Order: sequence, then C-alpha cells, then structure tokens
Amino acid sequence: MERDKNPYGLIPDAALAVTDGMIEWIGKQDAVPSPYDRYERVDLTGMTVTPGLIDCHTHIVFGGDRVHEFELRLQGTDYQHIAKEGGGILSTMHATRAASEDELVQSSLPRLDALLAEGVCMVEVKSGYGLRVQDELKMMRVARRLAAMRPVRIVTSWLAAHAVPPEYDRRGDAFIEEVVLAGLHQAHAEGIVDAVDGFCDPIAFSPAQVTRIFEVAKSLDLPVRLHTEQFANLGGAQMAARYGALSVDHLEYLDREGIRALSESGTVAVLLPGAYYTLRQSQAPPVQALRDANVPMAVATDGNPGSSPLFSILTAMNMACTLLRLTPEEALAGTTVEAARVLGLQDHYGTLSVGKRADLAVWDIRHPAELAYRIGFNPLKMRVNGGAHAG
Ligand code: NIG
Ligand code: FE
Repeated sequence: MERDKNPYGLIPDAALAVTDGMIEWIGKQDAVPSPYDRYERVDLTGMTVTPGLIDCHTHIVFGGDRVHEFELRLQGTDYQHIAKEGGGILSTMHATRAASEDELVQSSLPRLDALLAEGVCMVEVKSGYGLRVQDELKMMRVARRLAAMRPVRIVTSWLAAHAVPPEYDRRGDAFIEEVVLAGLHQAHAEGIVDAVDGFCDPIAFSPAQVTRIFEVAKSLDLPVRLHTEQFANLGGAQMAARYGALSVDHLEYLDREGIRALSESGTVAVLLPGAYYTLRQSQAPPVQALRDANVPMAVATDGNPGSSPLFSILTAMNMACTLLRLTPEEALAGTTVEAARVLGLQDHYGTLSVGKRADLAVWDIRHPAELAYRIGFNPLKMRVNGGAHAG
C-alpha cells in the first residue's frame, strides 16, 4: 500500500523479513539478501500478504442490544425520532451503566474477535455510552483491558460528547463542563485516552459546544476527531479542520466548503457504509468530490448496537465499493494506510515498509481486489501481530 508504485504497491513473488516485530526487508523473492538465509522461513506461496487491517472507528464496548429498534425502524420509525424519544444512544447508555467492567469485557470480546478473524490488527474503540464520568471511564478501562487479552493494538477515543443524558436535559453546556471535560481530565491523567471525539449534529452537540471540548483537548495535547454531517450540515467539518482534526467521520451531508477545509487541513474523511446502509440513508457522502480534492478517505465498521451493527471489516470494504463507489484499492487503503493516518500512527503502521511494525494479514487470494469483492466470505489464512503468529 505504498504510494507511487504499482496499484496497491503490489510486489509479485515477494518476500519480507521480520526482526523484533518490525519489517526489516521487503522485495522480490529472488533478491533476498544472503544474511536472511539463516532466518526461520514461512512459505506463503500462492498467498497475498497485506498490512494488518485497521478498524479506525468502532463502538464495540457497550451493554445490551438494540434489536427492538431494528424492528421499529423496519416498521418506518426513523433513527432520529427514536433518539428523541429516549431510545437510541440513551437506551444503550442505560444498559452500559448497568453493566460491570467485567461484564463489558465479556460482551465486547466476541465483537473484537470477529474483527481479528478478518485480519484486523488494530482497532479504535470509543466511549460514549456511559455519559457519566464513572461510566465513561469504565468503558475506556474495558478497552484497555481488551488490548491486554488479545494480540491487537487498541486505540481509545473519549466520546463523552455523544448524547446529552436525561439528567442534563436542556443543559448541554453543563453536561460538557461537568461530565465531558471533568471526565476527560481524569481519563487523561489515568492514561486511558488517546484521542477526543464528539458528535456534532442537531440531535447532539453544536459546533460551538464541540469547540469548547476541542480547546481542552488541545491543552492536553490530545488529537481530535468528529462525528459530523451525518444527518445535517452544521459546519462541523470546517470547525474540526480548524483544529487540525485527524478525521471527520460519516459525512453524508458534507458540502463544498467542508471539502475545501478538509483538503487544506489534511484531515481524513472516514466513510462508514455500515451506518449509511443500516439507516437506509438516501444521500451518500460526496466520494467523487473528496477524491477530486485529494482528501484521504478511510473506511471503518462503526461497529455499534444501533446505527451500524456491523463487526466485519471486509463487509465494510465491500459496502464502501458497492454503496459508496470506492475502488477496491481505495477500500483497502481505507483500512490500512489511511486508517493508520486517522489514528496518527502512519509512521509505524498501515503499509508493508521497512521500519514499520510487522502487522500482517495473509490471505488465500490471488489479488488484493478480492478483499472487497466477496460478501460474507473470509479468506484469511494467518494473522501476524508485531511479527508474532496471532491466529
Ligand atoms: O457513529 N453518530 C453517532 N454515533 C454512532 C451511533 C451510535 C448509536 O446509534 O448507538 C455512530 O453511528
Ligand atoms: Fe460512530
């Protein structure tokens, strides 16, 4: 997935050498330098090796489920209406508050494992279903515990500004001060938060409110990201770009000014086709305009109980192609090199390059375009995490 090479940066008949969890050499098989003769060899004849996949936007830690809302939506009730009636994110909030840390670890593990089984080596996990300091902290601690239980890197995002809980009804600003920011300081001190996220939407928070949060994130030296332009355009993308946001996510209602701002700030557009599909949205994110403006695009599952109960990165890639018209190469870049950029880790992850971490996915396919092609079929042969065989 290195740029300025063949499509996909593909090297036919390749070999790579791994030492101490890092890629030490990569090139053609017939050009392997002789010092590597004494290395242990793994024969991957006929396979395709890609960077370990990265799911850069998930909400896999949560309590309960929202299957009843699935039924309601199929009968015609829309997502925003369910949210206004106290369902949606708030329904998951109740279940998440009620669950212990151990229970959340146990309920989240199968979702994490489903991602790993498809070659994912790094997962971003958000808070945002506690909406009280102690429960937001609990979610972030669960994410850190998951990282210790599986060979995977987990990156956490503080998404306390996800919805206003009932006890702060009509007091969004007070919620931001007393929960979002007070909790952020604690989470930061505890070392359990890697980035700050928010939800900028008429059913959530205004750009002015998110600005307040981003100012504090900046003072803590934490990178920012934003769920924005999902159901309406409040100018969230421009605002996030002003803060040098790593990413803006969803973007169905992104406009020209937003695209211009992103292209200037280098912010990645994260496409979440699982939510677009689940909510049967009629307006797709402006992929061609993003491409024309050279805005990098990532693809993620958005795995969550409501808007995107999708825990398959390969399906997300397929949907990104079929529903949003990415090319299979863009879809793979979106779950490797661009996803690494979203997490601020592009120097160490996301391509098969000398000096980067040896996170690899080995697939029983002939060409990388096949990854986005099939639906519900998993060709993963082997996952390598930091040079170690990881299933
Ligand atoms: O990314 N857009 C807001 N937040 C989540 C939805 C969370 C939920 O419905 O539980 C999202 O789609
Ligand atoms: Fe999300």
